[in-house]
Amino acid sequence: MAQQQKIRKAVFPVAGLGTRFLPATKAVPKEMLTVVDKPVIQYVVDEAAEAGIEHFVFVTGRGKAVIEDYFDIQYELEQMLRERNKNAELTLLAGLLPKAGTASFTRQQVPLGLGHAVWCARDIVGGEPFAVLLPDMIMSAEKGCLKGMVELYEKTGGNVLAVQECDPDQAHKYGIVGVGEAVGNGFRITQMVEKPPKGTAPSNLYINGRYILQPEIFKILETQERGAGNEIQLTDGMLTLAKSQEFSAYKFTGETYDCGAKDGFILANLAFALQRADIRPAIEEPLKTLIASLK
Ligand code: G1P
Repeated sequence: MAQQQKIRKAVFPVAGLGTRFLPATKAVPKEMLTVVDKPVIQYVVDEAAEAGIEHFVFVTGRGKAVIEDYFDIQYELEQMLRERNKNAELTLLAGLLPKAGTASFTRQQVPLGLGHAVWCARDIVGGEPFAVLLPDMIMSAEKGCLKGMVELYEKTGGNVLAVQECDPDQAHKYGIVGVGEAVGNGFRITQMVEKPPKGTAPSNLYINGRYILQPEIFKILETQERGAGNEIQLTDGMLTLAKSQEFSAYKFTGETYDCGAKDGFILANLAFALQRADIRPAIEEPLKTLIASLK
């Protein structure tokens, strides 16, 4: 089997306005909202690092500078922690810091859609296959979603999307794929439809926000016309690419939380808090009581 080119770089489109989460996102980027004690973006970066990603490319926008600060050293804070012998906190911060030179930031100057945001990363990514992780979606699973995708990609090459089952009633909210023959532990994608009108989706498998793409997508996105929602859609670009390249799907079976929406964000907080040995004992019983008291 041919050796596949390693997936070294990941693109995080973090320019989104977060209108679904106002007023919280008026002054704080939605990617910086906290799930338990880490910003949402940290979960997604951790997933990428687990999958072997070496370079993290953030496509930001106005009002998002705090994301860049978050991935930098906070000199005064660290100095203060040292003076107070707060070694556990210092170690925690050091462990989360990307190595020097492995995080890049570029701006999407106008919010023209996901396809356009990914295209903004073209010069930093260059001519190699890369991953895209939508930062709204955070996942909980024994094996990270992107890691599973990379394992499938090592067998299939080409482009790989993560998909997950959804309630057929919800299919109109997502990109939906058509299911072809099995490959490895995934399948070939026969169709992709962005936000299919109710009752027309080719399956209930939705694209959950993780992509491995070949660099030819950039050339396509450069001239991609606006699609659903009057935005330049990544799915439309992928449809063009699918005419000359294979697309495979990795079926993710863990939990995905859409932290760009209030219900998903609250569920993520509860789920991740309940996974924590230091927090669960304090919240489990009160939560049960709270739920039992619901009328
Ligand atoms: C985007 C993609 C869609 C995907 C979804 C996952 O849509 O275009 O294919 O299913 O993310 O969250 P958006 O959420 O930007 O409308």
